[in-house]
Amino acid sequence: MKNIKVGIIGGTNGMGKWFAGLLKKEGYTVHVCGRKTKLGISDLAKLCEVIVVAVPISATADIIRKVGPMLNKDMLLMDLTSLKKEPVKMMLANSQAEVIGCHPLFGHQVKDSSGQNVILCPARGKKWLNWLKAVFKKNKLAVWEATPEKHDKMMAVIQALNHFNTITLGMALARTNVTLADINKFSTPIFRTKLDIIRKVFVESPELYLDIITGNPQTGKMLDIYEKALKDIRSKIKSGNKTESKKAIKKTAEKLYGSKDK
Ligand SMILES: NC(=O)c1ccc[n+]([C@@H]2O[C@H](COP(=O)([O-])OP(=O)(O)OC[C@H]3O[C@@H](n4cnc5c(N)ncnc54)[C@H](OP(=O)(O)O)[C@@H]3O)[C@@H](O)[C@H]2O)c1
Repeated sequence: MKNIKVGIIGGTNGMGKWFAGLLKKEGYTVHVCGRKTKLGISDLAKLCEVIVVAVPISATADIIRKVGPMLNKDMLLMDLTSLKKEPVKMMLANSQAEVIGCHPLFGHQVKDSSGQNVILCPARGKKWLNWLKAVFKKNKLAVWEATPEKHDKMMAVIQALNHFNTITLGMALARTNVTLADINKFSTPIFRTKLDIIRKVFVESPELYLDIITGNPQTGKMLDIYEKALKDIRSKIKSGNKTESKKAIKKTAEKLYGSKDK
């Protein structure tokens, strides 16, 4: 299958560019388009048998609606979107092509993606799945299959809850009015790691993180859990009752990591 041609919509930057690099390294012909490229979406659909949608989450549905009807049943339509339920539903509804939802669980900045997780949500057809898995596995990625529903449920924790927590920490930090100069002097390694994460969310890709949080149907549930946990530990710490705080920490550790007494 070496002479496969892959078209990546959104391949000029970010994750699309990362995927283009991976495929080119494997010897495949890759065409990319963005909003300002000479080649457009319909050129890619004519030139390629695999079409990858790798545009920002907010543009994904429109792009799928546009490109989907241009593809036939022997082709593959896939995406790299951080959410899976809606994009996979859209790909199935707007095209006859085989459909695979794909979410690489890392950013395009990683220098070496070996060992990183990739989730695949095979949704229609069997012809292309083994090819895609083989490409990832050859590059030492850990490939896992899941339904779009299971994927989004897990991402509500791994991404929505986690990034919400980072945003909350960043906002609280800003309200303390401490300066970066002082932070640099007084920070510990673990705090510097956290600060890098806060910077990534607030400065590098705020739109992506907000889309990931707001686009996940489970986010409301996560926010309730978060708020309850915050209220719970806040009241224990504020009351000055150290025994209660200790009990709560111990109970949580046992739930997360198992009992030490086992
Ligand atoms: N970044 C991550 O860490 C990460 C990780 C896993 C999955 N993802 C997913 O990957 C997808 C892309 O995110 P990203 O962070 O890679 O975004 P990005 O860095 O902003 O890149 C988006 C790409 O899409 C193109 N684009 C934007 N709007 C377009 C439109 N309307 N039509 C055609 N092309 C368009 C851009 O090119 P022009 O600006 O030149 O038009 C660019 O090539 C998202 O679905 C995201 O959820 C991202």
